[in-house]
Amino acid sequence: MNLVLMGLPGAGKGTQAAEIVDKYGIPHISTGDMFRAAIKEGTELGLKAKSFMDAGNLVPDDVTIGIVKARLRKDDCQSGFLLDGFPRTVAQAEALENILSDMDRSIDFVLNIDVDKEQLMERLTGRRICKQCGATYHAIFNPPENDGVCDKCGGELYQREDDNEETVKTRLEVNIEQSKPLLTFYDQKGYLRNIDGNQGIKKVFIDIDQLLGGLK
Ligand code: AP5
Ligand code: ZN
Repeated sequence: MNLVLMGLPGAGKGTQAAEIVDKYGIPHISTGDMFRAAIKEGTELGLKAKSFMDAGNLVPDDVTIGIVKARLRKDDCQSGFLLDGFPRTVAQAEALENILSDMDRSIDFVLNIDVDKEQLMERLTGRRICKQCGATYHAIFNPPENDGVCDKCGGELYQREDDNEETVKTRLEVNIEQSKPLLTFYDQKGYLRNIDGNQGIKKVFIDIDQLLGGLK
């Protein structure tokens, strides 16, 4: 199963990705997570990505395409993959078509989690993430049982650096602009499936699961 998960910042890509990989057993490839890990480790990639991410802008295409290409060639992607947050530009989408065709593969579905823009700021500024296992919570929409503590592993929760109001504004502007031609690109290829992301977290997954059920 070869999947791409699209959606504006805060649409719920990471939240739904966790459910999808759990049920369908495919690797979760999030370019945002890969960049954050590189920043934490202080690698060259991290140094390149940091200033763009801190400002809410996209990391340049050549850097991003390079890391995805290398990741898709790893053994665990043989039976499929879930790309989360990639592609984000038409140039990235075209590169992905070439990478996959070189591997004799193609995308099954592009799932676009569609959420009203007015909701996204609240979702992002209220988001909390586990330092230890990466689980995602929300202060109002998906609170942990004990304040500041992860239900799954007991780890401490933190707020992402780019989840402040000013950076979120830029992220939303940049991504709204870039996603329009990308959605047209995938619609024309017949891959695009829109998912109503304005519903509760569980209901969104039920809809995704129904769509994917036919592929398993
Ligand atoms: P990335 O890490 O991908 O961030 P993003 O796209 O901004 O998306 P988010 O992770 O913020 O949101 P999400 O959709 O995963 O939402 P979540 O499930 O957490 O990218 C970060 C940066 O890296 C970019 O700005 C860029 O600089 C760089 N980058 C990454 N990929 C790149 C690329 N391809 N090219 C260039 N640069 C790239 O949910 C959000 C919150 O809402 C949570 O608190 C959650 O609990 C809550 N929530 C989720 N679903 C629901 C629901 N249904 N109802 C109510 N609340 C919900
Ligand atoms: Zn945890």
